[in-house]
Amino acid sequence: MNKKTVHDIDVENKRVLVRCDFNVPLNDQGVITNDLRIQAALPTIRQLLEQNAAVILCSHLGRPKGKPVDSLRLDPVADRLTALLDRTVRKLDQVVGPLVTEAVEAMRPGDVLLLENTRFEAGEEANDRELSQELANLADVYVNDAFGAAHRAHASTAGVAEFLPAVAGLLLGKELEMLGTALEEPKRPLVVILGGAKISDKIGVIENLLTKAEQILIGGGMANTFFRAKGYETGDSLVEEGSVDKARDLMERAGDKLVLPVDVTVADAFSADAQTRTVEPDNVEAGWRILDIGPRTISLFKETIDEAGTVIWNGPMGVFELEPFAQGTFAIAKALANADAMSVIGGGDSASAVEEAGVSDAISHVSTGGGASLEFLEGRELPGVAALDDK
Ligand code: 3PG
Repeated sequence: MNKKTVHDIDVENKRVLVRCDFNVPLNDQGVITNDLRIQAALPTIRQLLEQNAAVILCSHLGRPKGKPVDSLRLDPVADRLTALLDRTVRKLDQVVGPLVTEAVEAMRPGDVLLLENTRFEAGEEANDRELSQELANLADVYVNDAFGAAHRAHASTAGVAEFLPAVAGLLLGKELEMLGTALEEPKRPLVVILGGAKISDKIGVIENLLTKAEQILIGGGMANTFFRAKGYETGDSLVEEGSVDKARDLMERAGDKLVLPVDVTVADAFSADAQTRTVEPDNVEAGWRILDIGPRTISLFKETIDEAGTVIWNGPMGVFELEPFAQGTFAIAKALANADAMSVIGGGDSASAVEEAGVSDAISHVSTGGGASLEFLEGRELPGVAALDDK
Protein backbone atom coordinates (compact mmCIF):
# COMPACT_ATOMS: atom_id res chain seq x y z
CA MET A 1 0.00 0.00 0.00
CA ASN A 2 1.35 3.43 -0.88
CA LYS A 3 -0.32 5.09 2.11
CA LYS A 4 1.21 5.71 5.53
CA THR A 5 -0.04 3.53 8.35
CA VAL A 6 0.13 3.58 12.13
CA HIS A 7 3.54 1.90 11.76
CA ASP A 8 4.91 5.06 10.15
CA ILE A 9 4.09 7.54 12.92
CA ASP A 10 5.09 8.33 16.47
CA VAL A 11 2.05 8.77 18.70
CA GLU A 12 3.77 8.88 22.09
CA ASN A 13 1.89 11.36 24.31
CA LYS A 14 -0.17 12.53 21.36
CA ARG A 15 -3.92 12.76 20.90
CA VAL A 16 -5.03 10.53 18.10
CA LEU A 17 -8.43 10.76 16.41
CA VAL A 18 -9.40 7.30 15.14
CA ARG A 19 -12.31 6.91 12.71
CA CYS A 20 -13.77 3.42 13.12
CA ASP A 21 -16.77 1.76 11.52
CA PHE A 22 -18.86 0.95 14.57
CA ASN A 23 -21.98 0.72 12.42
CA VAL A 24 -23.10 -2.51 14.11
CA PRO A 25 -26.51 -4.16 14.08
CA LEU A 26 -28.71 -3.41 17.11
CA ASN A 27 -31.92 -5.18 18.14
CA ASP A 28 -35.14 -3.42 19.25
CA GLN A 29 -33.76 -3.06 22.76
CA GLY A 30 -30.63 -1.34 21.44
CA VAL A 31 -28.44 -4.36 22.15
CA ILE A 32 -25.58 -5.07 19.73
CA THR A 33 -26.29 -8.35 17.95
CA ASN A 34 -22.94 -8.68 16.18
CA ASP A 35 -19.80 -6.94 17.41
CA LEU A 36 -17.38 -8.08 14.70
CA ARG A 37 -16.70 -4.53 13.57
CA ILE A 38 -15.88 -3.52 17.14
CA GLN A 39 -13.60 -6.52 17.59
CA ALA A 40 -11.91 -5.72 14.29
CA ALA A 41 -11.02 -2.20 15.51
CA LEU A 42 -9.27 -3.41 18.67
CA PRO A 43 -5.76 -4.07 17.29
CA THR A 44 -5.32 -0.44 16.22
CA ILE A 45 -6.74 0.94 19.47
CA ARG A 46 -4.53 -1.38 21.53
CA GLN A 47 -1.43 -0.49 19.55
CA LEU A 48 -2.04 3.24 20.04
CA LEU A 49 -2.62 2.76 23.77
CA GLU A 50 0.55 0.70 24.12
CA GLN A 51 2.39 3.64 22.60
CA ASN A 52 0.97 6.02 25.20
CA ALA A 53 -1.43 7.87 22.97
CA ALA A 54 -4.72 9.38 24.13
CA VAL A 55 -7.30 7.84 21.82
CA ILE A 56 -10.37 9.71 20.58
CA LEU A 57 -12.68 7.31 18.74
CA CYS A 58 -15.44 8.32 16.36
CA SER A 59 -17.91 6.54 14.08
CA HIS A 60 -21.29 6.76 12.45
CA LEU A 61 -24.15 4.39 13.35
CA GLY A 62 -27.10 3.99 11.01
CA ARG A 63 -28.44 6.85 8.93
CA PRO A 64 -29.74 9.59 11.27
CA LYS A 65 -29.52 12.20 8.49
CA GLY A 66 -27.77 15.06 10.26
CA LYS A 67 -29.63 15.22 13.55
CA PRO A 68 -29.61 13.36 16.86
CA VAL A 69 -31.68 10.17 17.00
CA ASP A 70 -31.70 8.61 20.44
CA SER A 71 -31.80 5.02 19.24
CA LEU A 72 -28.59 5.64 17.26
CA ARG A 73 -26.45 6.98 20.09
CA LEU A 74 -23.11 5.23 20.53
CA ASP A 75 -23.55 4.30 24.22
CA PRO A 76 -23.89 0.54 23.53
CA VAL A 77 -20.66 0.71 21.53
CA ALA A 78 -18.86 2.44 24.40
CA ASP A 79 -20.06 -0.26 26.80
CA ARG A 80 -18.88 -3.03 24.51
CA LEU A 81 -15.52 -1.33 23.99
CA THR A 82 -15.11 -0.90 27.74
CA ALA A 83 -15.66 -4.63 28.18
CA LEU A 84 -13.41 -5.69 25.32
CA LEU A 85 -10.54 -3.31 26.11
CA ASP A 86 -10.92 -3.84 29.82
CA ARG A 87 -10.59 -0.12 30.42
CA THR A 88 -13.10 2.69 30.70
CA VAL A 89 -14.18 4.17 27.41
CA ARG A 90 -15.81 7.48 28.17
CA LYS A 91 -18.66 8.32 25.81
CA LEU A 92 -19.53 11.95 25.02
CA ASP A 93 -22.98 13.04 23.88
CA GLN A 94 -21.67 15.44 21.24
CA VAL A 95 -19.43 15.08 18.20
CA VAL A 96 -17.74 18.50 18.50
CA GLY A 97 -18.24 21.68 20.55
CA PRO A 98 -17.04 23.15 23.83
CA LEU A 99 -17.89 20.11 25.98
CA VAL A 100 -15.94 17.85 23.66
CA THR A 101 -12.97 20.23 23.57
CA GLU A 102 -12.96 20.39 27.35
CA ALA A 103 -13.08 16.60 27.71
CA VAL A 104 -10.33 16.14 25.13
CA GLU A 105 -8.07 18.70 26.80
CA ALA A 106 -8.36 16.80 30.06
CA MET A 107 -7.23 13.53 28.46
CA ARG A 108 -4.04 11.78 29.57
CA PRO A 109 -2.03 9.16 27.67
CA GLY A 110 -3.90 5.86 27.84
CA ASP A 111 -7.34 7.49 28.03
CA VAL A 112 -10.02 6.51 25.54
CA LEU A 113 -12.94 8.73 24.54
CA LEU A 114 -15.76 7.95 22.16
CA LEU A 115 -17.48 10.86 20.41
CA GLU A 116 -21.20 10.75 19.59
CA ASN A 117 -22.47 9.40 16.25
CA THR A 118 -20.77 11.57 13.61
CA ARG A 119 -23.91 11.54 11.44
CA PHE A 120 -25.78 13.54 14.09
CA GLU A 121 -23.90 16.49 12.51
CA ALA A 122 -25.30 17.69 9.19
CA GLY A 123 -21.75 18.51 8.10
CA GLU A 124 -20.63 14.87 8.28
CA GLU A 125 -22.20 13.54 5.08
CA ALA A 126 -21.76 16.91 3.37
CA ASN A 127 -18.00 16.60 4.05
CA ASP A 128 -18.20 20.10 5.49
CA ARG A 129 -14.83 21.84 5.87
CA GLU A 130 -15.77 23.49 9.11
CA LEU A 131 -16.74 20.19 10.76
CA SER A 132 -13.59 18.54 9.38
CA GLN A 133 -11.51 21.35 10.89
CA GLU A 134 -13.31 21.09 14.24
CA LEU A 135 -12.65 17.34 14.36
CA ALA A 136 -9.03 17.91 13.41
CA ASN A 137 -8.63 20.49 16.20
CA LEU A 138 -9.25 17.73 18.74
CA ALA A 139 -6.12 15.76 17.85
CA ASP A 140 -2.50 15.74 16.67
CA VAL A 141 -2.88 12.79 14.32
CA TYR A 142 -5.76 11.19 12.38
CA VAL A 143 -6.03 7.44 11.86
CA ASN A 144 -8.65 6.03 9.52
CA ASP A 145 -9.51 2.44 10.44
CA ALA A 146 -13.06 2.52 9.07
CA PHE A 147 -12.74 0.33 5.99
CA GLY A 148 -16.53 -0.17 5.98
CA ALA A 149 -17.05 3.58 5.48
CA ALA A 150 -14.01 4.26 3.27
CA HIS A 151 -16.24 4.56 0.19
CA ARG A 152 -17.90 7.61 1.78
CA ALA A 153 -16.34 11.05 1.32
CA HIS A 154 -17.54 12.42 4.65
CA ALA A 155 -15.99 14.87 7.12
CA SER A 156 -14.78 12.15 9.52
CA THR A 157 -13.68 9.71 6.81
CA ALA A 158 -12.02 12.04 4.33
CA GLY A 159 -12.33 15.81 5.02
CA VAL A 160 -10.50 15.73 8.34
CA ALA A 161 -7.42 14.18 6.71
CA GLU A 162 -6.62 17.49 5.06
CA PHE A 163 -5.89 19.14 8.40
CA LEU A 164 -3.79 16.52 10.21
CA PRO A 165 -1.10 13.94 9.54
CA ALA A 166 -3.39 11.16 8.28
CA VAL A 167 -2.59 7.45 8.24
CA ALA A 168 -4.32 4.07 7.86
CA GLY A 169 -5.13 1.90 10.87
CA LEU A 170 -4.29 -1.80 11.02
CA LEU A 171 -7.75 -2.97 9.95
CA LEU A 172 -7.90 -0.61 6.98
CA GLY A 173 -4.38 -1.69 6.01
CA LYS A 174 -5.24 -5.40 6.28
CA GLU A 175 -8.45 -5.01 4.25
CA LEU A 176 -6.62 -3.21 1.45
CA GLU A 177 -3.82 -5.74 1.46
CA MET A 178 -6.06 -8.81 1.37
CA LEU A 179 -8.58 -7.47 -1.13
CA GLY A 180 -5.78 -5.90 -3.17
CA THR A 181 -3.79 -9.15 -3.35
CA ALA A 182 -6.86 -11.17 -4.29
CA LEU A 183 -7.70 -8.74 -7.05
CA GLU A 184 -4.31 -7.67 -8.40
CA GLU A 185 -1.85 -10.46 -7.57
CA PRO A 186 -4.00 -13.55 -7.07
CA LYS A 187 -2.70 -17.07 -7.11
CA ARG A 188 -4.32 -18.40 -10.28
CA PRO A 189 -6.88 -19.39 -11.19
CA LEU A 190 -8.90 -16.54 -9.69
CA VAL A 191 -12.53 -17.58 -9.21
CA VAL A 192 -15.12 -14.97 -8.30
CA ILE A 193 -18.50 -16.00 -6.89
CA LEU A 194 -21.22 -13.39 -7.05
CA GLY A 195 -24.71 -13.61 -5.65
CA GLY A 196 -27.31 -11.50 -3.94
CA ALA A 197 -30.67 -10.36 -5.12
CA LYS A 198 -29.84 -7.71 -7.65
CA ILE A 199 -27.63 -7.81 -10.73
CA SER A 200 -27.67 -4.00 -10.85
CA ASP A 201 -25.54 -3.91 -7.65
CA LYS A 202 -22.93 -6.17 -9.22
CA ILE A 203 -22.60 -4.90 -12.80
CA GLY A 204 -19.60 -2.72 -11.91
CA VAL A 205 -17.89 -5.66 -10.23
CA ILE A 206 -18.48 -7.99 -13.19
CA GLU A 207 -17.18 -5.33 -15.59
CA ASN A 208 -13.99 -4.93 -13.56
CA LEU A 209 -13.44 -8.65 -13.04
CA LEU A 210 -14.09 -9.78 -16.61
CA THR A 211 -10.45 -9.18 -17.47
CA LYS A 212 -9.01 -10.20 -14.09
CA ALA A 213 -10.74 -13.49 -13.17
CA GLU A 214 -10.59 -16.88 -14.86
CA GLN A 215 -14.13 -17.80 -13.79
CA ILE A 216 -17.13 -15.85 -12.53
CA LEU A 217 -19.76 -18.06 -10.88
CA ILE A 218 -23.20 -16.52 -10.55
CA GLY A 219 -25.86 -17.47 -8.01
CA GLY A 220 -28.57 -15.75 -6.00
CA GLY A 221 -31.45 -13.71 -7.38
CA MET A 222 -29.11 -11.91 -9.76
CA ALA A 223 -28.82 -15.10 -11.84
CA ASN A 224 -32.49 -14.76 -12.78
CA THR A 225 -31.83 -11.68 -14.87
CA PHE A 226 -29.21 -13.66 -16.83
CA PHE A 227 -31.74 -16.48 -17.30
CA ARG A 228 -34.22 -13.98 -18.69
CA ALA A 229 -31.53 -12.63 -21.01
CA LYS A 230 -31.13 -16.21 -22.30
CA GLY A 231 -34.82 -16.18 -23.10
CA TYR A 232 -35.96 -18.48 -20.26
CA GLU A 233 -39.33 -18.10 -18.61
CA THR A 234 -38.51 -17.43 -14.97
CA GLY A 235 -41.98 -17.84 -13.44
CA ASP A 236 -42.48 -15.55 -10.45
CA SER A 237 -38.74 -15.11 -9.85
CA LEU A 238 -37.31 -11.70 -9.16
CA VAL A 239 -35.95 -10.28 -12.42
CA GLU A 240 -34.58 -6.79 -13.03
CA GLU A 241 -36.18 -6.08 -16.38
CA GLY A 242 -34.14 -2.90 -16.81
CA SER A 243 -30.89 -4.88 -16.64
CA VAL A 244 -31.75 -7.72 -19.06
CA ASP A 245 -29.90 -6.11 -21.98
CA LYS A 246 -26.88 -5.46 -19.81
CA ALA A 247 -26.91 -9.09 -18.65
CA ARG A 248 -26.97 -10.24 -22.29
CA ASP A 249 -24.07 -7.96 -23.13
CA LEU A 250 -22.02 -9.24 -20.16
CA MET A 251 -22.71 -12.88 -21.09
CA GLU A 252 -21.60 -12.27 -24.67
CA ARG A 253 -18.40 -10.58 -23.59
CA ALA A 254 -17.60 -13.10 -20.85
CA GLY A 255 -18.23 -16.28 -22.87
CA ASP A 256 -17.34 -19.43 -20.90
CA LYS A 257 -15.90 -17.38 -18.08
CA LEU A 258 -19.35 -16.63 -16.72
CA VAL A 259 -20.99 -19.71 -15.19
CA LEU A 260 -24.71 -19.74 -14.36
CA PRO A 261 -26.51 -22.29 -12.17
CA VAL A 262 -27.37 -25.54 -13.98
CA ASP A 263 -30.23 -26.29 -11.59
CA VAL A 264 -32.22 -24.24 -9.10
CA THR A 265 -34.48 -24.72 -6.09
CA VAL A 266 -37.89 -23.22 -6.79
CA ALA A 267 -40.76 -22.58 -4.40
CA ASP A 268 -44.44 -21.81 -4.82
CA ALA A 269 -44.24 -18.95 -2.30
CA PHE A 270 -41.64 -16.74 -0.65
CA SER A 271 -41.92 -18.60 2.61
CA ALA A 272 -40.15 -21.23 4.69
CA ASP A 273 -43.34 -23.38 4.47
CA ALA A 274 -43.56 -23.24 0.69
CA GLN A 275 -43.51 -26.32 -1.49
CA THR A 276 -40.12 -26.72 -3.16
CA ARG A 277 -38.62 -28.54 -6.17
CA THR A 278 -35.34 -28.71 -8.00
CA VAL A 279 -35.60 -27.88 -11.69
CA GLU A 280 -33.42 -26.79 -14.58
CA PRO A 281 -33.33 -23.02 -14.98
CA ASP A 282 -35.24 -23.13 -18.29
CA ASN A 283 -38.02 -25.09 -16.63
CA VAL A 284 -39.41 -22.70 -14.03
CA GLU A 285 -43.19 -22.70 -14.28
CA ALA A 286 -45.59 -19.82 -13.66
CA GLY A 287 -46.40 -19.54 -9.97
CA TRP A 288 -42.91 -20.76 -8.97
CA ARG A 289 -39.88 -18.70 -8.08
CA ILE A 290 -36.15 -19.41 -7.89
CA LEU A 291 -34.90 -19.10 -4.30
CA ASP A 292 -31.62 -21.07 -4.24
CA ILE A 293 -29.10 -22.86 -6.43
CA GLY A 294 -29.66 -26.60 -6.80
CA PRO A 295 -27.48 -29.63 -5.84
CA ARG A 296 -25.83 -30.07 -9.25
CA THR A 297 -24.83 -26.40 -9.20
CA ILE A 298 -23.42 -26.82 -5.70
CA SER A 299 -21.24 -29.70 -6.96
CA LEU A 300 -20.14 -27.75 -10.01
CA PHE A 301 -19.24 -24.67 -7.97
CA LYS A 302 -17.44 -26.83 -5.38
CA GLU A 303 -15.27 -28.44 -8.07
CA THR A 304 -14.34 -25.02 -9.39
CA ILE A 305 -13.54 -23.79 -5.87
CA ASP A 306 -11.36 -26.86 -5.23
CA GLU A 307 -9.25 -26.06 -8.27
CA ALA A 308 -8.95 -22.34 -7.56
CA GLY A 309 -5.84 -20.53 -6.34
CA THR A 310 -7.88 -17.58 -5.09
CA VAL A 311 -11.61 -17.16 -4.51
CA ILE A 312 -13.45 -13.89 -3.95
CA TRP A 313 -17.06 -14.27 -2.83
CA ASN A 314 -19.69 -11.56 -2.56
CA GLY A 315 -23.41 -12.20 -2.18
CA PRO A 316 -25.44 -15.23 -1.04
CA MET A 317 -26.52 -18.00 -3.42
CA GLY A 318 -30.13 -17.95 -2.25
CA VAL A 319 -32.52 -16.64 0.37
CA PHE A 320 -30.40 -18.08 3.18
CA GLU A 321 -32.46 -16.35 5.88
CA LEU A 322 -35.12 -19.02 5.17
CA GLU A 323 -33.86 -22.49 6.08
CA PRO A 324 -35.12 -24.37 2.98
CA PHE A 325 -33.17 -21.97 0.73
CA ALA A 326 -29.94 -21.76 2.73
CA GLN A 327 -28.28 -24.90 1.38
CA GLY A 328 -26.52 -23.27 -1.57
CA THR A 329 -25.05 -20.44 0.47
CA PHE A 330 -23.89 -22.65 3.34
CA ALA A 331 -22.46 -25.26 0.95
CA ILE A 332 -20.38 -22.56 -0.75
CA ALA A 333 -19.24 -21.22 2.64
CA LYS A 334 -18.11 -24.72 3.65
CA ALA A 335 -16.47 -25.41 0.29
CA LEU A 336 -14.45 -22.22 0.67
CA ALA A 337 -13.47 -23.12 4.21
CA ASN A 338 -12.20 -26.54 3.06
CA ALA A 339 -10.42 -25.29 -0.05
CA ASP A 340 -6.68 -24.67 -0.35
CA ALA A 341 -7.35 -21.40 -2.15
CA MET A 342 -6.86 -17.98 -0.59
CA SER A 343 -10.45 -17.03 0.21
CA VAL A 344 -11.74 -13.49 0.53
CA ILE A 345 -15.31 -12.67 1.47
CA GLY A 346 -16.80 -9.28 0.69
CA GLY A 347 -18.69 -8.04 3.75
CA GLY A 348 -22.44 -7.82 4.26
CA ASP A 349 -24.61 -10.90 3.72
CA SER A 350 -21.83 -13.26 2.65
CA ALA A 351 -19.88 -12.36 5.81
CA SER A 352 -22.98 -13.19 7.89
CA ALA A 353 -23.35 -16.45 5.95
CA VAL A 354 -19.83 -17.70 6.70
CA GLU A 355 -20.36 -16.77 10.32
CA GLU A 356 -23.69 -18.60 10.51
CA ALA A 357 -22.09 -21.59 8.80
CA GLY A 358 -19.49 -21.48 11.58
CA VAL A 359 -16.53 -21.33 9.19
CA SER A 360 -15.26 -17.72 9.45
CA ASP A 361 -12.01 -18.88 11.03
CA ALA A 362 -11.20 -21.07 8.04
CA ILE A 363 -11.54 -18.17 5.58
CA SER A 364 -8.40 -16.17 4.72
CA HIS A 365 -10.17 -12.83 5.03
CA VAL A 366 -13.74 -11.81 5.85
CA SER A 367 -14.12 -8.13 5.03
CA THR A 368 -15.84 -5.75 7.46
CA GLY A 369 -17.02 -3.61 4.54
CA GLY A 370 -20.13 -4.35 2.46
CA GLY A 371 -20.47 -1.34 0.17
CA ALA A 372 -16.79 -0.52 0.54
CA SER A 373 -15.58 -3.94 -0.58
CA LEU A 374 -17.97 -3.85 -3.55
CA GLU A 375 -16.60 -0.47 -4.65
CA PHE A 376 -13.07 -1.79 -4.17
CA LEU A 377 -13.90 -4.79 -6.37
CA GLU A 378 -15.32 -2.40 -8.95
CA GLY A 379 -11.84 -0.90 -9.10
CA ARG A 380 -12.98 2.45 -7.73
CA GLU A 381 -10.84 4.68 -5.58
CA LEU A 382 -12.10 4.84 -1.99
CA PRO A 383 -12.18 8.48 -0.80
CA GLY A 384 -11.30 7.50 2.78
CA VAL A 385 -8.11 5.90 1.51
CA ALA A 386 -7.28 8.51 -1.12
CA ALA A 387 -7.34 11.23 1.57
CA LEU A 388 -4.53 9.60 3.62
CA ASP A 389 -0.87 10.66 3.44
CA ASP A 390 1.23 8.97 0.80
CA LYS A 391 4.24 6.97 1.92
C1 3PG B 1 -21.79 -0.15 6.08
O1 3PG B 1 -22.49 -0.67 6.96
O2 3PG B 1 -21.68 -0.65 4.93
C2 3PG B 1 -20.99 1.06 6.42
O3 3PG B 1 -20.97 1.28 7.78
C3 3PG B 1 -21.44 2.26 5.65
O4 3PG B 1 -22.74 2.62 6.01
P1 3PG B 1 -23.62 3.50 5.01
O5 3PG B 1 -23.99 2.62 3.85
O6 3PG B 1 -24.80 3.97 5.82
O7 3PG B 1 -22.75 4.65 4.54
